[in-house]
Amino acid sequence: MTMAEPRVAIVTGGATGIGGAIARRLAADGERVLIADIADDLAASNVARIEAEGGTAAAIHSDVSRHDDIREMIQDAVDRWGRLDILVSNAFPAMEALPGGVEEVTEEQWDFGMSLLVKALFLGGKYAVPEMRRVGGGNIVNIASVHGLLMAKDYLVYEAGKSAAIGVTKQMAIQHGPDNIRVNAICPGHMVTENIQRVMWDDNPEGLKLFDDQYPLRRTGKPEEIASAVSFLCSEDASFVTGHALVVDGGLSVQLQENIGVQQANYMRRHPETQPPY
Ligand SMILES: NC(=O)c1ccc[n+]([C@@H]2O[C@H](COP(=O)([O-])OP(=O)(O)OC[C@H]3O[C@@H](n4cnc5c(N)ncnc54)[C@H](O)[C@@H]3O)[C@@H](O)[C@H]2O)c1
Repeated sequence: MTMAEPRVAIVTGGATGIGGAIARRLAADGERVLIADIADDLAASNVARIEAEGGTAAAIHSDVSRHDDIREMIQDAVDRWGRLDILVSNAFPAMEALPGGVEEVTEEQWDFGMSLLVKALFLGGKYAVPEMRRVGGGNIVNIASVHGLLMAKDYLVYEAGKSAAIGVTKQMAIQHGPDNIRVNAICPGHMVTENIQRVMWDDNPEGLKLFDDQYPLRRTGKPEEIASAVSFLCSEDASFVTGHALVVDGGLSVQLQENIGVQQANYMRRHPETQPPY
């Protein structure tokens, strides 16, 4: 029996957080993984961690707000390993929420957000599709958000961008189904990454508890739970799944909001000293 050649995957923003976990999971699945990120030290650490666990990975400095960097990252994967099978477009600095509605958001913030949240997906697809077609197919997974499905006050840029990411996903799935390229999105709920733990929750465990309690599963998520979803979508088990936006949010987005209001009110009555984290 001949073993299938290991697939080649690119994970943008694969140095840390959700992308970091995706890179490790795909490598554990046997794929060769190129981490495309601006955080060179963190990317190198994740490569070392993958290699220590017996996987194959490399890193390239790539700012996905730059057209040339996206073209070069695709070319680098192909030059290095001869093919491209999987592209996970994930990069976005999660703590860069670009808050505000139409009155507050500046044109620069809008353009910055859209370049990372939407244009990077378009350009990634532009260069990935011909390479995937060349090897008979592939998988593209775009990391969107529950914020692409449900709106909150003051997140115009993020939510317009994540909604568009789902639109890009569905359009590309239609366009490239005949090429045997499956294109899906994932909509995570709140995932406690290294950055989010440090910046939001290390000094506010009560706030995290308040967040956890809003979820039907009574907890927020782990980056590895998004990595599992990516692994599934790129596997043969998902061979008939394309154009789908897979919600991975512990049930948050199917819950009546009035329940959350009651929970919050009860919590605040018990803990009057605590401010909600938003
Ligand atoms: N963490 C969550 O709760 C959550 C929820 C829903 C969706 N998401 C989405 O998941 C993705 C990852 O989020 P995260 O929480 O892991 O973020 P994170 O900040 O922990 O990690 C983001 C990674 O992207 C890299 N990056 C940032 N700007 C880049 C650029 N211009 N070019 C290349 N790499 C860049 C960073 O260096 C970092 O390695 C984002 O698309 C985010 O919107 C996150």
